[in-house]
Amino acid sequence: MGQIECKYFKAGKKCKFGDKCHFGHGKNQSSSSSSTPQTATSSPPLTSTSSPPQGTFNWVSKDISKGNLSYPLRAINQCDDQPLPEDFKFIEKSFPGDNVIPREIPLKCDCIGDCYDTNNMGQDNCSCFQKEKYYDDKGRLLHLNFTEIYECSPECNCSESCRGRVIQKGPQHPLELFKTKDKGWGVRAKVEIPARTYVCEYVGEIIGQEEAEKRGSEYDKKGLSYLFDLGGSNERTSIAELTIDATHFGNESRFINHSCDPNLTSFSAFIETIDERMPRIVFFSNKFIKINEELTFDYKYTIPLGHDASGNAPGDIKCNCGSKNCRKWLWKAG
Ligand SMILES: C[S@@+](CC[C@H](N)C(=O)[O-])C[C@H]1O[C@@H](n2cnc3c(N)ncnc32)[C@H](O)[C@@H]1O
Ligand SMILES: [Zn+2]
Ligand SMILES: [Zn+2]
Ligand SMILES: [Zn+2]
Ligand SMILES: [Zn+2]
Repeated sequence: MGQIECKYFKAGKKCKFGDKCHFGHGKNQSSSSSSTPQTATSSPPLTSTSSPPQGTFNWVSKDISKGNLSYPLRAINQCDDQPLPEDFKFIEKSFPGDNVIPREIPLKCDCIGDCYDTNNMGQDNCSCFQKEKYYDDKGRLLHLNFTEIYECSPECNCSESCRGRVIQKGPQHPLELFKTKDKGWGVRAKVEIPARTYVCEYVGEIIGQEEAEKRGSEYDKKGLSYLFDLGGSNERTSIAELTIDATHFGNESRFINHSCDPNLTSFSAFIETIDERMPRIVFFSNKFIKINEELTFDYKYTIPLGHDASGNAPGDIKCNCGSKNCRKWLWKAG
């Protein structure tokens, strides 16, 4: 397959994947050494702070996570009778697919207590910070200009309450899946989410280049786009070595739609291992998010050079984000 301009995060670089290329940037890391997907078990749901659904609905699932989140992850369709896709299974953590071998390179500090506490020996010298601290006292990002976030690992000597542990505690803000009018399923907040707060992680099956290329072309034909390229690209080709495929195994993140004015920003996070090929892709709020506001991130598609966004070729997808600065197209054939 010839190389084409990638339409998502790799704008400006060459990508050999099919017409509908992948989300993707940053670097990569697997959070599980098992090659078996960890699908949700049937333990009882934990308490939720979200309110019951209002109005009528045509289809509802009380908790698609089946008790595996700190709140029931409801899915509600008030637009039509379509349920969530049956060939989609909720998983908590990414898992390596065939022939993907995670490199276990843990980060480890010898700090005592809280690495962020200036009164203990961690101070600014904690080896896990990789130059800088990431979080404030409330566990929110100090700013949004990071591209990578390093957290203390299970190997670290510091305490479990070390402030260098935020993402690893899991999402704390209840979300809900809902059917949108013109973008398929989407995700919305069921509580207010302050700016710079950890929201969720893009999880799925971690696959290699060849497999991603093969699946990418198949998915393109079916109009599916749930591939997220990880950062450690092959230097020769600039193609991601690894990709997260959330088509059949994933969590709420694979339902997050694109906006040209998004309220989430993605970061590459390193926790259990600092294998640059396998960051965890995590989303933080980049502004205050209201109750029932839809969560969005920028797929970062750029219209190929020489195309002025006029006309409508088969396979083009119009952007329905509704923002004032909407770029009009989510995907446009080059
Ligand atoms: C990663 S999926 C998001 C979840 C998807 N809505 C679903 O029902 O599974 C990406 C797809 O959602 C739709 N989509 C996402 N953002 C959109 C937007 N701003 N405008 C139109 N369609 C959008 C497109 O069909 C796109 O290929
Ligand atoms: Zn620590
Ligand atoms: Zn430390
Ligand atoms: Zn540490
Ligand atoms: Zn838009």
